[in-house]
Amino acid sequence: MSLTGMVALVTGGAQGIGRAVVHALMQKAAKVAVLDLNPSCGEACKAELDAEFGEGNCIFIPCDVSNGDALKDAFQKTVDTFGRLDIVVNNAGINNEKDWEKTIEVNLASVIRGTYLALEHMSREHGKDGGIIINVSSMAAFFHSPHQPVYTATKYGVTGFTRAMADASSESNYGVRINVVCPAFVNTPLLRSVEHEDNMGKFVKFKDDFKSRMAKFGILEPSLIAKGIMQLITDTNLHGAVMKITSSKGIHFHTYEPLSA
Ligand SMILES: NC(=O)c1ccc[n+]([C@@H]2O[C@H](COP(=O)([O-])OP(=O)(O)OC[C@H]3O[C@@H](n4cnc5c(N)ncnc54)[C@H](O)[C@@H]3O)[C@@H](O)[C@H]2O)c1
Repeated sequence: MSLTGMVALVTGGAQGIGRAVVHALMQKAAKVAVLDLNPSCGEACKAELDAEFGEGNCIFIPCDVSNGDALKDAFQKTVDTFGRLDIVVNNAGINNEKDWEKTIEVNLASVIRGTYLALEHMSREHGKDGGIIINVSSMAAFFHSPHQPVYTATKYGVTGFTRAMADASSESNYGVRINVVCPAFVNTPLLRSVEHEDNMGKFVKFKDDFKSRMAKFGILEPSLIAKGIMQLITDTNLHGAVMKITSSKGIHFHTYEPLSA
């Protein structure tokens, strides 16, 4: 599937996994709106992308995804700038067990809001042409990690929400494919936050155990996660897919027992 001329929006796109996805999308000639809370990182990211791909192919929109009005405005600004919207990657996420309500707002509520806004701009129900939504979960959605109970809960939530929305899209003919990606440990600033009491709260006492899990299971590079997300975007057969990415198995898919009475 060609992405030339398609318009994508990536939340948390200024660094880490989001930054790698933005780069991969632009390599395929998509135009990209980078949404991020961090203005200096976002401006630096845009300057680098302008230098590599030429001006006018990406915009940076400072935005806190947990602010519903700001997120809505950022979607509208993307459409106003590029004329349409085809791909949304709800990637922004934090690791904060101390401020766990914020973790739920950013990691789960904002993914739900971002999915609904994406549908307003892409779904046939709204008279649009269809599109693709990728939500970023985690392998934490398959393990009950003692280090990050609330982070784990949000990622279980993102996976379940995405699967249910994929079914809703099929049944209501939205014309929107919706997939979720679940990476294991990835080499980004978020991963390094597990050492800090400010992020982990009382669970910081488990940091050595957490680090030994990283050593055991390995740490992936953001470019591999971007490769998986690009597969979820471009393979038109993938809808409701739950992609896992681990050091031992690479990019692969989770299968569930069929529903039975
Ligand atoms: N790093 C890992 O080990 C790992 C593993 C599995 C899943 N994930 C998930 O991948 C996603 C990206 O994580 P990452 O590792 O690249 O993290 P990161 O911290 O490197 O990057 C996250 C980006 O999101 C932005 N962001 C944070 N809060 C925001 C908000 N409220 N509004 C807008 N932007 C905001 C940050 O400024 C940053 O640029 C997250 O959803 C994370 O949970 C990460």
